[in-house]
Amino acid sequence: MNQHFDTILKSGTVVNQDGEGVRDIGITNGRIAAIGSLGQASAGEVIDCKGLHILPGVMDTQVHFREPGLTQKEDLETGSRSAVMGGVTAVFEMPNTNPLTVTEEAFTDKIKRGHHRMHCDFAFFIGGTRENVQDLPELERAPGCAGVKVFIGSSTGALLVEDDESLRRIFKVIRRRAAFHAEDEYRLNERKPLRIEGDPRSHPVWRDETAALMATERLVNLARETGKRIHVLHISTKEEILYLRDHKDVASCEATPHHLTMAAPECYERLGTLAQMNPPVRSADHRAGIWYGIDQGIIDVLGSDHAPHTLEEKAKTYPASPSGMTGVQTLVPLMLDHVNAGRLSLARFVDLTSAGPARLFNMACKGRIAAGYDADFTVVDLKRSETITNEWIASRAAWTPYDGVRVQGWPVGTFVRGRRVMWQGEVTTPSTGEPVRFLETLKA
Ligand code: DOR
Repeated sequence: MNQHFDTILKSGTVVNQDGEGVRDIGITNGRIAAIGSLGQASAGEVIDCKGLHILPGVMDTQVHFREPGLTQKEDLETGSRSAVMGGVTAVFEMPNTNPLTVTEEAFTDKIKRGHHRMHCDFAFFIGGTRENVQDLPELERAPGCAGVKVFIGSSTGALLVEDDESLRRIFKVIRRRAAFHAEDEYRLNERKPLRIEGDPRSHPVWRDETAALMATERLVNLARETGKRIHVLHISTKEEILYLRDHKDVASCEATPHHLTMAAPECYERLGTLAQMNPPVRSADHRAGIWYGIDQGIIDVLGSDHAPHTLEEKAKTYPASPSGMTGVQTLVPLMLDHVNAGRLSLARFVDLTSAGPARLFNMACKGRIAAGYDADFTVVDLKRSETITNEWIASRAAWTPYDGVRVQGWPVGTFVRGRRVMWQGEVTTPSTGEPVRFLETLKA
């Protein structure tokens, strides 16, 4: 009897754990049912993918979507619309919302808000604080929780745990890999006088490379002392790359497209406060160091650190201007442009955006194109040249630091659990986002 599928993606170049090749993918009930030559099979819908590459769904493991509390910048619907427009099939969202995501109530509220309102699948981090330490073992195992996130240097919002003693208490009680914003708060406070009013070029002088390295070293030491695993977010220095190379047993790390693409002082001269981010974009030398980390396999994942603020907020005079830029929609096109320029292979891009997140965070049935896995795909046209524009950005903030930048390589389709959510620049399906499932949070 002929096989029948809900959907067949026909003749795309599938990039997979067994390499790259032209194949058909059969989808049934939101899962990958078969991969191969499915010419004899029938399907409810056949989608021609000839000439396109089909990647495992790109997962952005660091975004700030601002709901609840800061929805003039973004909300879960607009942020996730921006994600799927950019080819992203799942996001991990950060706890610096208002109220902070630090209680069961706030966490459950976010899950409810996201369910079938977000366009992609999602997980939320729970913020670690001095006050909620005793609740973290339970909270980090809630379905849909990506783990604990701690700011050890202050950034946007009120989350901060800066001292080793309080951090140690958190490390001792948690079991999952926890994620950290690593800038040393004491050094940041000491160096505040180095900020020059009206000059964002002083941002990386204030928040210098030593502040980042000191914080990362402290975290690795605490991880060793307590036998826990850490994930260092948005690496911004070459020193951290070399340091983390020697601590891969306890530490994973993330790079962002902006730290790989922009360099100081040029970005501040051209973009002003739009380039202001924490940790800051630094010199080309640091950018080269982070590329070395990509090349050598030291970096585990890419995250956009999508951190929208309105243009009005960003127009304040530095340092009153908030740190952050949009990024979830531009991650795929920017990185494909780097692939086309020969800076990384397509296989390494897949490793960083699907296999890497699945490995670090123990996701169930995501991160591979394999039978039985969720049918999450990012379909890309590697040959297509496009100009990134503010008009294209679906984020409520409605701007990108890459406005006017021409790239080669473009996301043309986003599939989430078998549904074609975005195709050729249009969001085509009502939102059906659901929590990502993690092995540590599966309930019987
Ligand atoms: O620049 C940043 N903005 N870095 C962060 O860590 C937080 C983020 C935000 O939420 O605005």
